[in-house]
Amino acid sequence: MNFLDPGLACYLGFRQGMEVRSALRCVSHFHDAASTLNNTPNPSYMLSVRALTQVFDGIPILNGVSFDLKAGESLSLRGESGCGKTTLMNILGGLQQPSSGAVFWEGRRLDSLSPGELARLRGRDFGFVFQNPTLVAELNLLENCLLAARIQGSLDAVVKRRVLELLEQVGLQQHTRALVHTLSGGQRQRAALVRALSLKPKLLLADEPTGNLDEQTAKVVMDLLMQLCQAQGTALMLVTHHAAFAQRTRHQATLSLGKWIS
Ligand SMILES: Nc1ncnc2c1ncn2[C@@H]1O[C@H](COP(=O)(O)OP(=O)(O)OP(=O)(O)O)[C@@H](O)[C@H]1O
Ligand SMILES: [Mg+2]
Repeated sequence: MNFLDPGLACYLGFRQGMEVRSALRCVSHFHDAASTLNNTPNPSYMLSVRALTQVFDGIPILNGVSFDLKAGESLSLRGESGCGKTTLMNILGGLQQPSSGAVFWEGRRLDSLSPGELARLRGRDFGFVFQNPTLVAELNLLENCLLAARIQGSLDAVVKRRVLELLEQVGLQQHTRALVHTLSGGQRQRAALVRALSLKPKLLLADEPTGNLDEQTAKVVMDLLMQLCQAQGTALMLVTHHAAFAQRTRHQATLSLGKWIS
């Protein structure tokens, strides 16, 4: 065990004989609190959200949401229907502008980026699984899963191999040529997951990815989601109404009356 030097402990206002690790944890809490108060990003976090508000037609939906997420960490978000979870996910992914407040991605404010920079960031760093997953009806399953890479202009043999591996991991390897209308809800949801992870995003934004599935299929998709994010080192922000699924992420939060409760 490594203890803080007694002189330094006294200077910093820590008790004598305090372990360095515990002292550092306190410092990091101070840092969190300070950066939240002055609305700046915390440099040790990948995503920092500061004082976000969203008002629709005069009705406040998000009311001063602030939190941070480190690279590779997972966080689940719960809250009653209509409380603003999807709205928040859209803002985090740069798909929607908040009424006020800021989202910092790797220290840069999303609203300081040009539309081109934002589009590149969305394609390269973020993966999305939407509440109602949309696959392109005219394309087969493999083409759908390769679509993000094709749009980004980064479709090559490496990406194709990764997508085929992911399809195998989620049990869809027999269906690569299937058209969307022939797939079940669970199969579509697994395909949406593969598409979202195809470019190894740094952050996966998954909005009720098991919302439309039966209990058994939901568990299979959830297991895959956790496994694949862990294997790729992808951070996960998961919206779910399912208490047991929410417990599987490292951090848990709830939205209530527009406030972030963690
Ligand atoms: N573009 C918009 N214009 C006006 N109101 C909106 C808009 N988008 C969302 N809302 C409203 O904001 C509120 C929050 O919607 P949101 O979809 O974020 O809720 P949610 O927490 O995701 O709900 P659910 O659990 O049912 O998916 C709702 O009352 C919704 O009607
Ligand atoms: Mg929603």
